[in-house]
Amino acid sequence: MIGKRHLQAMKTIEEAELIAIVDPAEPAKAMALNEGVPWFATIEEMLAEVVPNGVIVSTPTEIHLEPTIKALEAGCHVLVEKPIAANLDEANEIQKVAERVNRNVMVGHHRRYYGLMELAREIVSSEKLGRLLAVHGQWTSRKADDYYIPKWRQQRSSGPVLINLIHEMDILRFICGEIESVTAQLQSGFRGHLKEETAAIVIRFQSGVLGTFLLSDATPSPWNWEHATGENVNFPRTGQNSYRFLGSEGCLDFPNLRIWTSKGTPDWNHLMDFEDRNVPLEDAYISQLLHFCRVIKQEETPRITAKDATETLAATLAVFDSAEQQRTITL
Ligand SMILES: NC(=O)c1ccc[n+]([C@@H]2O[C@H](COP(=O)([O-])OP(=O)(O)OC[C@H]3O[C@@H](n4cnc5c(N)ncnc54)[C@H](O)[C@@H]3O)[C@@H](O)[C@H]2O)c1
Repeated sequence: MIGKRHLQAMKTIEEAELIAIVDPAEPAKAMALNEGVPWFATIEEMLAEVVPNGVIVSTPTEIHLEPTIKALEAGCHVLVEKPIAANLDEANEIQKVAERVNRNVMVGHHRRYYGLMELAREIVSSEKLGRLLAVHGQWTSRKADDYYIPKWRQQRSSGPVLINLIHEMDILRFICGEIESVTAQLQSGFRGHLKEETAAIVIRFQSGVLGTFLLSDATPSPWNWEHATGENVNFPRTGQNSYRFLGSEGCLDFPNLRIWTSKGTPDWNHLMDFEDRNVPLEDAYISQLLHFCRVIKQEETPRITAKDATETLAATLAVFDSAEQQRTITL
């Protein structure tokens, strides 16, 4: 899925050139032939013949570690998909190896490349909203049955917590600051897979801001980032919001960027009015890839480092710990 998206971005820009495709699956072989580049079943086979400047690792999450480390040790810079790894030990190992070989790792939290993300952060910390008090977010959608044909997608490492919530935790950290604690309940049983399907989460930020998040991959709903923004043509745009940031003076619907304030003193006796901010949605995968090219040329440092992505992973994994141990997890 996402490898094709990176390929599409690569074909759009002049700064990057596709050198090879590594993927043991037959369709990948046909794709390499179609693109006129060599195909390899394993990264070792590729590195024995060609060492590119950069490698994009978009294998299933539990297979991020090995190709990332092999590519780093061969001297390549790496863009690894989110989550950086399936657990914190592997994420830390990636960080250590990158430091040892003096190569950059950046992690594919692509939403941070949207201008609207920067603007949301600016609005949330502005006088318009006043002091941020609370946030509510939602990612609810029903994934298509054929999404679960690959067995890896039925495992916990590929449930909505590590596949989808990780993006949301990253957004929340980016806009509201570091997370102090996480309390969660999980539910499953609709499809009969090993992974979770629904989660209700309470988040406390270091600033004292409180948040709630509702997650489910088993309900057809318009309230999720992909349908809200239409960033992917496969998930038709609804324009609905999936976040509400609540401040002492006003609040923000997001990603619609609708700012609500009172006409008069900010209390319940006054009519509320709104102001929309319109920001075009760029292709974040292209922006990410252009940034990766500049990171390879050492013109920029990674916008989402392995360390940063490990913090996002820790907050996300705390959801499992909290649900399993029936307690609040302090990070
Ligand atoms: N940034 C995003 O928005 C986004 C979106 C989707 C997926 N992802 C992430 O991308 C990763 C892949 O997800 P996907 O949905 O594209 O998976 P996918 O199953 O569609 O593709 C994974 C590919 O990896 C190949 N593969 C398996 N083992 C391999 C190995 N050892 N070496 C080389 N190739 C191997 C498979 O044959 C398959 O073609 C996951 O970590 C996921 O979390 C990110």
